[in-house]
Amino acid sequence: MKTVLWATLTANGNYAQSSPEHPPKKEALDDFAAHAKTAGNFIVGRRTFEGMQAAGGGGSFGDVDIVVVSKSIEPIPGITVAGSPKEALDYLQQKGHQTALIAGGADLHNAFLGQGLVDELIFNVAPVLEGKGLHLTIDTDRYQYKDAQLLDCKPLGGGIIQLRYAVGCF
Ligand SMILES: NC(=O)c1ccc[n+]([C@@H]2O[C@H](COP(=O)([O-])OP(=O)(O)OC[C@H]3O[C@@H](n4cnc5c(N)ncnc54)[C@H](OP(=O)(O)O)[C@@H]3O)[C@@H](O)[C@H]2O)c1
Repeated sequence: MKTVLWATLTANGNYAQSSPEHPPKKEALDDFAAHAKTAGNFIVGRRTFEGMQAAGGGGSFGDVDIVVVSKSIEPIPGITVAGSPKEALDYLQQKGHQTALIAGGADLHNAFLGQGLVDELIFNVAPVLEGKGLHLTIDTDRYQYKDAQLLDCKPLGGGIIQLRYAVGCF
């Protein structure tokens, strides 16, 4: 099963944060929904999932398999809870999915990256700047370096550029 990390970055390289005052751009949301539909699933950290619920989006993905990674969340009907990134992937693999879409947020993305569990990156670079904020990292306890191969680059509209990379073996 291929693992694809999907994230929005700001034009100055932050891991983009959203809020009611600064919601994600429609083009980025549409792109996420299209990838989730194609994969048939997405994996999300507990805080991002709660943000989606608060924004009214937690239950609007039809029959897409949603896996929330958390050690603390109470069971939610229709949602699978996994205690770790590996447990989330094992669940989707045994369900027969070909691709797992890793939707965020920062802690969850960094856990997958730090454990070397990502095959492909999709970065949507949005035309916004942020101050001190969140970042993606492959480090756990010491400096690491990894090559990536650019697979594709295209505009999504709304000033967003999508970059797609292979990481790991290529
Ligand atoms: N740029 C983007 O594409 C994008 C996408 C999504 C979200 N975001 C932004 O990201 C921010 C939210 O991210 P966040 O880092 O605060 O939270 P998060 O990654 O959404 O959720 C963190 C929670 O997920 C669980 N978790 C994460 N890694 C785990 C692991 N290895 N094992 C077990 N559980 C794990 C834990 O839940 P428990 O505490 O319950 O154990 C943890 O507290 C927001 O600002 C949001 O706007 C950006």
